[in-house]
Parts: sequence; C-alpha cells; structure tokens
Amino acid sequence: MERVLGELDSKVIVDPATTAPLNIYKLLVGTVVPRPIAFVSTISPEGVANLAPFSFFTVASANPPVLCFTTSFREPRKDTLVNVRATKEFVVNIVSEEFADKMNATSAEYPYGVDEFAVAGLTPVASDLVRAPRVKESHVNMECKLLQTVEVSNQPLGGTLVLGEVVRFHINDAIIEEFRIDPDKLGAVGRMAGNTYSRTRDRFELIRPQIVKK
Ligand SMILES: Cc1cc2nc3c(=O)[nH]c(=O)nc-3n(C[C@H](O)[C@H](O)[C@H](O)COP(=O)(O)O)c2cc1C
Repeated sequence: MERVLGELDSKVIVDPATTAPLNIYKLLVGTVVPRPIAFVSTISPEGVANLAPFSFFTVASANPPVLCFTTSFREPRKDTLVNVRATKEFVVNIVSEEFADKMNATSAEYPYGVDEFAVAGLTPVASDLVRAPRVKESHVNMECKLLQTVEVSNQPLGGTLVLGEVVRFHINDAIIEEFRIDPDKLGAVGRMAGNTYSRTRDRFELIRPQIVKK
C-alpha cells in the first residue's frame, strides 16, 4: 500500500475513486465496528425457509419501528433478497453468543432452496403476522413487513438496502423488565472485520450532559 500522508495531521489519505473496491471494503468493515447482526429469516413463495446473517444492519426509525440491512450485490441475487422481494416480509432475529457458531453455519453460500434452519440445527417457530418463521434460539425476534428496497449500487461489493417495519416483537420474558433489555442476558455479538466478533459484556457508562436553560 502506497502511503500518502496528509499535511495537517499526517493521517493516511485514501481516495475511493482510485482505490480497489476490495480495499475500500476492508477499510469500511474494519472501521465501522462492531456491527450488530441481523439474522434474517425469510420464506420462498414455494414455502422453503431461509436464514442468513447481515451485519450491514441498523435501526432506521423508532416511530414507526423500522429496521434496515444491506444485501451485497451479486448475480444471482442473495436468497434473502429474492424472498423479501417476492413475499414482502421477513423476520430479524438477534444473535447471542451461545449460538453464534450456528449463525455462522448459515452464512455459507448455499444454493437457493436450501433451508439453513436445518443446516445449522436451529429451530423454526411460526410467526404471528408474517409467513417467515422465527428463530426459537434467539432471545428477540422482530416480524417485519417490507417498506422498500433501495438499489444503492449494482457494482461488485455494492448493495441493496432493505427497509422493513417491525409489526411484532417477541422477547424472552427472562431478559426484559419494563421495556428495558438486560444486555448481559441478551449476550448479543457484534461483527468485526474478517472472521472476528465482539461481545457486548464489557461496557462503560457516560452520563449525557444536560443544558440548563436560564
Ligand atoms: C456475521 C456475518 C455478517 C454478514 N453480513 C452480510 C451483510 O451485511 N451483507 C451481505 O450481503 N452478506 C453478509 N454476510 C454474508 C451472507 O450471510 C451470505 O452471503 C449468505 O450466504 C447469504 O444468504 P442467502 O443467499 O440465503 O441470503 C455476512 C456473513 C456473516 C457470517
């Protein structure tokens, strides 16, 4: 890597316009960390369940509750995107440390029509309002109705943003008190670069400053 340093602060300067997309990808997944993981379950129009993890994932709105995740571009399109577009529904399941290995097992590029619940030994449970099943082992399942997909880029390593409104939450009774989730009991994991993950048990507190109006 050729190092061009900025005059003001001696930081390495990278111009995406002249840098290989794979290297830009490495910068993004190495710096936007840790990323939460949407473990997305869908169902095909033929009724075959599908399950895959997506770490380009966040909350887009709390009122109404809207989640979004990105499926990276490839042809044929990822099974999750194919199913979401066909059925307009999906479930986001939260990944905890105790079954992170099973989540990882679902991420291999299985051909369309393979049920990753069966591959990973995870348990499908019927949802209330969508046809896609939920993951029983997840402490939290969020049933979603598709709002829209946004084709951000159809270049290699580009992607399609999927936005869905949460129409039902299912939360393990043991991890919730007055709408507050116990993070230790949830034990969510984050994705770092490559094959590494972070835990969420090492935390610290910062009290947000209040502006006192005179
Ligand atoms: C932790 C983790 C996070 C991932 N995040 C993404 C992501 O954000 N976007 C994406 O397109 N693929 C992501 N992948 C890869 C997909 O899970 C993989 O391509 C999967 O086979 C897609 O399944 P599908 O074709 O059944 O939808 C991730 C894989 C892992 C293990």
